[in-house]
Amino acid sequence: MTTYRIAVIPGDGIGPEVIQEAVKVLNAVSALDGHFHFVFTEHPWGCEYYLKTGQMMPENGLDQLKDSDAILLGAVGYPGVPDHISLRGLLLKLRRGFDQYINLRPIKLLEGAPCPLKNMQPSDIDMVFVRENSEGEYSGQGAWLYPDSPQELVIQDSVFSRKGCERVIRYAYELARREQKTLTSISKGNALNYSMVFWDQIFEEVGKEYPDVETYTLLVDAAAMFMIKNPKRFQIVVASNLFGDILTDLGAAISGGMGLAAGANLDPEHRYPSMFEPIHGSAPRMAGKGIADPLASIWSAAQLLEHLGYPNWYAQIVDTIEQMLKEKHCLTQDLGGCASTTECGDAFVSMLSSAHMKSH
Ligand code: IPM
Ligand code: MN
Repeated sequence: MTTYRIAVIPGDGIGPEVIQEAVKVLNAVSALDGHFHFVFTEHPWGCEYYLKTGQMMPENGLDQLKDSDAILLGAVGYPGVPDHISLRGLLLKLRRGFDQYINLRPIKLLEGAPCPLKNMQPSDIDMVFVRENSEGEYSGQGAWLYPDSPQELVIQDSVFSRKGCERVIRYAYELARREQKTLTSISKGNALNYSMVFWDQIFEEVGKEYPDVETYTLLVDAAAMFMIKNPKRFQIVVASNLFGDILTDLGAAISGGMGLAAGANLDPEHRYPSMFEPIHGSAPRMAGKGIADPLASIWSAAQLLEHLGYPNWYAQIVDTIEQMLKEKHCLTQDLGGCASTTECGDAFVSMLSSAHMKSH
């Protein structure tokens, strides 16, 4: 019996409500599987913690997490603490501190999921975004000069290192090769004459090692348009931190909404724990009402299982989400249902269990 230590950071707003359902599902999976189990350690970090201590997490927070096999994160941010403080003090600190340089975001229209685009079949929207997650536009570097004077100016630096670009681009090529899919790189080399020209050059260089992978390069503005007009042209997509951030919200919008959008912050080299989270925020206005959709968190728990080496469980969980959507079974209000967060999670577990029993 393998034991996995999972650190849980429920965080703010609807975070605790949705994370509870992800934990429920992981426990159900371990019971059904029988070969592994989870030990969860909860860390009460976030905005409330900040208001009490002046920090989003303790000084030795990374140390407390570093020996876990994975981290489950709910959401971060709450009115009363400026977003750049809460996010930089927790979410971004973890991504950076554990060098989780890949942010992997599946954008897949499941059967039965709402889609605002006309005449879309599930097979038309099925891509995976590989978002750079450690540097780029999110470097946090810059300066604020001459505050409150007429000369006031700010500088927000982007950092694109050769190592940083190569590793994310190589990861995307490997994924495209393994899955025999096309690879699209998102750029803006026409306007960003250092960062994106460099990015394009590295995309081409690394590509020489992957002559079998069919590639495309799109400017980010054109990519946004094509994701709406012809999403089918995207299979594996690699993008910088900010471009990946923006396009994956667009991706969520065309594939069922934020309630279904999952993401994994990966250290592919397993030096540090990877972190799994729904890509939606803390939705303060929905918090405490029991109406948040837990399916994004459950999908990210599936990514956690895949990362630990259980791709079959990933598939079974996504299939079960699709089953619930097709049958309109116990969905929350964002998906047209009237189930509560807990009811949706409970229904998910019973559906997963019966599907699993049937197939074994
Ligand atoms: C995301 C979020 C974060 C990001 C914010 C909350 C800092 O939007 O995970 O996509 O921009 O990375
Ligand atoms: Mn985002």
